[in-house]
Amino acid sequence: MHCVRTVTDNLYWVGANDHRLTLFENIHPIPRGVSYNAYLLLDEKSVLFDTVDWSACRQLLENMEYLLAGKPLDYLVINHMEPDHGASIEEILLRWPKVKVISTEKSFMLMRQFGFHVDGHELVEVKEGDTYSFGAHNVTFVGAPMVHWPEAMVTFDTTNGVLFSADAFGSFIALDGKLFADEVDFDRDWIDEARRYLTNIVGKYGPHIQLLLKKAGGILDQIKFICPLHGPVWRKDLMYFIDKYDKWSRYEPEEKGVLIAYASMYGNTEAAAQALAAKLCEKGVTNVAVYDVSNTHVSYLISEAFKYSHIVLASVTYNLGIYPVMHNFLMDMKALNLQNRTFALIENGSWACKSGDLMQKFIDEELKNMTVLNERLSLASSLSESKGAELDALADALTESVRA
Ligand SMILES: Cc1cc2nc3c(=O)[nH]c(=O)nc-3n(C[C@H](O)[C@H](O)[C@H](O)COP(=O)(O)O)c2cc1C
Ligand SMILES: [Fe+2]
Ligand SMILES: [Fe+2]
Repeated sequence: MHCVRTVTDNLYWVGANDHRLTLFENIHPIPRGVSYNAYLLLDEKSVLFDTVDWSACRQLLENMEYLLAGKPLDYLVINHMEPDHGASIEEILLRWPKVKVISTEKSFMLMRQFGFHVDGHELVEVKEGDTYSFGAHNVTFVGAPMVHWPEAMVTFDTTNGVLFSADAFGSFIALDGKLFADEVDFDRDWIDEARRYLTNIVGKYGPHIQLLLKKAGGILDQIKFICPLHGPVWRKDLMYFIDKYDKWSRYEPEEKGVLIAYASMYGNTEAAAQALAAKLCEKGVTNVAVYDVSNTHVSYLISEAFKYSHIVLASVTYNLGIYPVMHNFLMDMKALNLQNRTFALIENGSWACKSGDLMQKFIDEELKNMTVLNERLSLASSLSESKGAELDALADALTESVRA
């Protein structure tokens, strides 16, 4: 059975939802699922924009067969070759052998590398700024390298103002019937998963997103719809989401507030993290989020680190090192290029406390544009009452810095 939605005149969503995949890219948990979006334009020529993951191919085919109603598919535009979108290319070629494929040089190279038999088909290689007409609809192709792979491009339909934005402006969470961002409470129910998607998947490539945003900036008044490859389509309040993308890709905090991430084996470092959170709230800084790094997938920690202006790391010393899960969080911050945050440190050790110095060294030497507050809270096994003044000093320093 087909399951399609109308985006605008003659343009249809023909993608699919996935609630079975546990780990996106086999790393990131997606408890609320994900959608693979593909779009079909029925102009004088019929055009499919991107395909779907292999697991969703059957649904894509049923959707296309329903809308094409026996007519041929004339064009396949591939904006992004990662297999969550490109995996069904071969099947499309087999079903519609006369389809012409439009994509970038690098994308065609990747198709061959992945073993797709594209060479018997008419291939149209496009470059930055090339245009094409499908009848009433004229499109321009715009390079989007490293958003999220080097071959990526976006396609702008100048006739109806639709931007096929590839992985940019995407989000985790299955659509489940909804198609447009204005059909859900995005700011309440989706923003955290949109941030987790962007920061973990494309976070490293902030400057490349900035480049794409600059190109989009030139035609902002012409963009009426943003059609990403995951998550909802945007047709209202586009600037809300563009602003979020701008912040995330400039590594600017979204909110003044404090993320407290703790690593604790027996609960004493955890108690210190909680005591600090309570002190901050007592002082009026209530935008505080506390996470145990051991039971929170690092993708959520990264997303929160991109959200908040201040990050407190509280870690035990573990065999003279940083607790491994905390170390992993730090390495992920480095890998995803997080910058421009203010840190504070809580360390714990029972005989040779090292975690504070080691975390400080990592932040100073491996991360960019970070500040570490001088007020460090150092525990010998547990937070004794005698440490009350140090805890207060740390809370005061954070409060002052958050309010600055
Ligand atoms: C396996 C293991 C290794 C540890 N290694 C060190 C260490 O090298 N240096 C140190 O000062 N404390 C070490 N500790 C003690 C912890 O840093 C910490 O003081 C203790 O676990 C209490 O904090 P918690 O209740 O938050 O776990 C170790 C503890 C464990 C269980
Ligand atoms: Fe991708
Ligand atoms: Fe994707």
